[in-house]
Amino acid sequence: MSDLYHQMMQQFAEERQRYHQRPTASVAIRFDGVEKTLDGRKVLDGVDLVIPSGKITAIIGMSGGGKSVTLKHIVGLMQPDRGEVWIGAQRLGQLSGRRLNQLRQRFSMMFQSSALFDSLNVLDNVAFPLRERRLLDESMIMARVERALSQVSLTGMGHKFPDELSGGMMKRVALARALVTEPEFLLLDEPTAGLDPIIEHSIHALVCATYLRTRYTTVMISHAVPEIFRWCHHVIVLHQGKVLAAGSSMAITETEHPVVRQFIRGELQGPIKII
Ligand SMILES: Nc1ncnc2c1ncn2[C@@H]1O[C@H](COP(=O)(O)OP(=O)(O)OP(=O)(O)O)[C@@H](O)[C@H]1O
Ligand SMILES: [Mg+2]
Repeated sequence: MSDLYHQMMQQFAEERQRYHQRPTASVAIRFDGVEKTLDGRKVLDGVDLVIPSGKITAIIGMSGGGKSVTLKHIVGLMQPDRGEVWIGAQRLGQLSGRRLNQLRQRFSMMFQSSALFDSLNVLDNVAFPLRERRLLDESMIMARVERALSQVSLTGMGHKFPDELSGGMMKRVALARALVTEPEFLLLDEPTAGLDPIIEHSIHALVCATYLRTRYTTVMISHAVPEIFRWCHHVIVLHQGKVLAAGSSMAITETEHPVVRQFIRGELQGPIKII
């Protein structure tokens, strides 16, 4: 393991400790009483949350608990039935289509389903958001794409089409596409689900290294509990459409909250009844 990796882990562990002792940061994203009903079911039932600016936040919780729906509200792909979503000082619900599009340019999102374009090869999928922004010439775009692909261990795979890739490779292409624009807000929906433990580790390390270089606000939905706690400052636990707990990753690790403890430990006995 390289010295660089150890330095990074040391630096991030110290940061997490400082954030634990003084969990303050300006607010990047805020939900005030957000409610959303889908197919007759109240998926978000009064969500109040704060995403700290310039930190890594993990959103965890049971499957079907509304994590992906929450992320879609942040980028305006879904609108609340009730309540407000704020990005900094801007209230999403009040933005015109043009202003919303401008705001979206500041975000990069990796969807849980990867959402690659089937008709584009890997190179063109990853280059897509850069070409759309029209800020770089083609040689600079290709240099960035190649670098992003090497970061996710997919060098040389650029000519392949999505239906020639394994599920884990598709996820890594989607991650490369999210990282390539170096956005102000990076939203990752399950970046490591379905990947083997070594690739999972390398992806967490890549997200952390990218964060330390850019300091952009990062939000990661993850089922990789408890590993994910090492890779974020702040944790939000969503359960049955509400925020059950939020705080520094160290505080959440040590919480006495019975539902959160049961979830983190994956225990069958406790307030959450599965069987
Ligand atoms: N577009 C939609 N139309 C109807 N129902 C939806 C839609 N999107 C999500 N849902 C429902 O909302 C609930 C929450 O879904 P969501 O995808 O947010 O869960 P999640 O917490 O991300 O779960 P997982 O960990 O399995 O990804 C689910 O019951 C799902 O069926
Ligand atoms: Mg989801």
